[in-house]
Amino acid sequence: MITKFKVDNVDYSIDIDQNTPLLWVLRETLNLTNTKFGCGVGECGACTVLMDNKSIRACTTPISMIINKEITTIANENDKDLKKLQNAWIDEDVSQCGYCQPGQIINALGLIKQTPLPSDEQIIFSMNGNICRCGTYNKIKTAIKIASKS
Ligand code: FES
Ligand code: FES
Repeated sequence: MITKFKVDNVDYSIDIDQNTPLLWVLRETLNLTNTKFGCGVGECGACTVLMDNKSIRACTTPISMIINKEITTIANENDKDLKKLQNAWIDEDVSQCGYCQPGQIINALGLIKQTPLPSDEQIIFSMNGNICRCGTYNKIKTAIKIASKS
């Protein structure tokens, strides 16, 4: 079935099985590999993207749910809130191995789209499902506070 959607302000129209997970469409069909594959079952957050400004797990979201939606990934160059978060991430030197960070930043973006000035408790609650094996959680919280105030 022909499916239309938008990723980072670019329109796509592809013929694809409607059960295909969005993550596979991004990485394999469109070759947009900035969004990472971790667990594949919705448990780690590595694959987080925004759908119409709300965080979703791309690995467990079938493409049938994306029809006519707008997807935002870590590669979006036009989102001012994303740019603020990326700058705060750099200033706070958040990343270690870096693998989880695209999902962390996009999940943080979903938070500040819904709650522009989040409290510590709101940050902890919202970021809870995004796993970082390198333990960067405190720096992530600081970077989100800085970005939300800038
Ligand atoms: S790869 Fe999607 S939540 Fe882990
Ligand atoms: S920075 Fe290594 S898993 Fe998060």
